[in-house]
Amino acid sequence: MLHAVIMAGGLGTRFWPLSRRASPKQFLTLQGERSLIQSAFDLAAPLMPAEQCWVVTGGQFVELTHEHLPSMPVAQILQEPCGRNTAPCIGLAALQIAARDPEATLLVMPADHVIAPAERFANDVQAAVDLIDADPERLVLFGKPPTFPATGFGYIHRGEPLAPGAYTVAGFREKPDRDTAESYLRSGEFFWNCGIFVWRASRILELLRTCEPELGRQLDELARYVGKPEWDAALNDIFPRMKSISIDYAVLERAPKIAVVEVTFDWDDVGSWEALARLLPGDSDGNVSVGPFVGLDTSGCIVRSTSEHLIATVGIENCVIVHTPHATLISRRDDEQGMRRLMALLTEQG
Ligand code: GDD
Ligand code: MG
Repeated sequence: MLHAVIMAGGLGTRFWPLSRRASPKQFLTLQGERSLIQSAFDLAAPLMPAEQCWVVTGGQFVELTHEHLPSMPVAQILQEPCGRNTAPCIGLAALQIAARDPEATLLVMPADHVIAPAERFANDVQAAVDLIDADPERLVLFGKPPTFPATGFGYIHRGEPLAPGAYTVAGFREKPDRDTAESYLRSGEFFWNCGIFVWRASRILELLRTCEPELGRQLDELARYVGKPEWDAALNDIFPRMKSISIDYAVLERAPKIAVVEVTFDWDDVGSWEALARLLPGDSDGNVSVGPFVGLDTSGCIVRSTSEHLIATVGIENCVIVHTPHATLISRRDDEQGMRRLMALLTEQG
């Protein structure tokens, strides 16, 4: 049976000051009415019975997750004692779901992307499920043709056609450097990895054992406690000792039998404030704003405020201005590296 696993434990610091340690990116509402995690749930929920939809998140976010997804039973919000990146996160979900449904197929999704329309997402997921039904050892990825040499994504090397819109994967490379990303882009043979996966729970556990033996052993040990009163103690003991590594480095760069479905849905990994400029219509001067804003001789700015706070600018170009009750950010739009340095500095200063 198909189960959704929504990974919602990341911190999304590039949306500072709106995202903070207490309320990371997946809980933000960037457009419309629904937060990113609610939108992820809205995509997955129609594809399966309610009891097959799961969220994995840190213990500190369980309450917030429950507020955002009140219809999801709390038992389906799987808790991590601390963040160990996506390989342990996926392993934890896989072992708990496999304990209930050994044949489970997982649709693993990030909680913080913008994906639409829902029908095309459903069709592409079905295409992936069909590939798994044909060969349960497959790992199925979702790929999108790259438009610039991004260094923050994984790249999927397209192999032979398998079915309409689906291919074997000749190789996977997580977050290449700029030169490599440029060569991948030029070759026309690569997709960006959308970070959404379909695979059997049992198969991903098997590959975690092969690719990261220590992690595999720890997951197997933990699996002995599913449904037992000692679960929490075992989790708190074993999970924090797991290697912090993403599934991309741990498994995807090394595993055999990977397939890719070229997505037909629109996908945006809303990675930073730049995403607002892609998601919302701009005014005649190319400014994008949320909340009250008056810009005189102002162009190319991304402005976000709270409903009761007016932002007014004169003679400003290509800036990001974000106001929240506790902090205000003003930066150049083209300086994502600077944002990273700012975040490091703020973390240092506590
Ligand atoms: N529960 C939990 N625990 N969730 C986590 C953890 C964790 O420790 N770490 C990350 N996540 C969640 C994030 O909230 C996000 O929804 C998802 O897992 C992916 O993690 P990111 O940290 O955002 O990964 P990335 O963006 O650097 O890279 C991945 O996504 C790209 C596409 O956006 C990779 O799969 C890339 O290959 C891919 O191109
Ligand atoms: Mg991400």
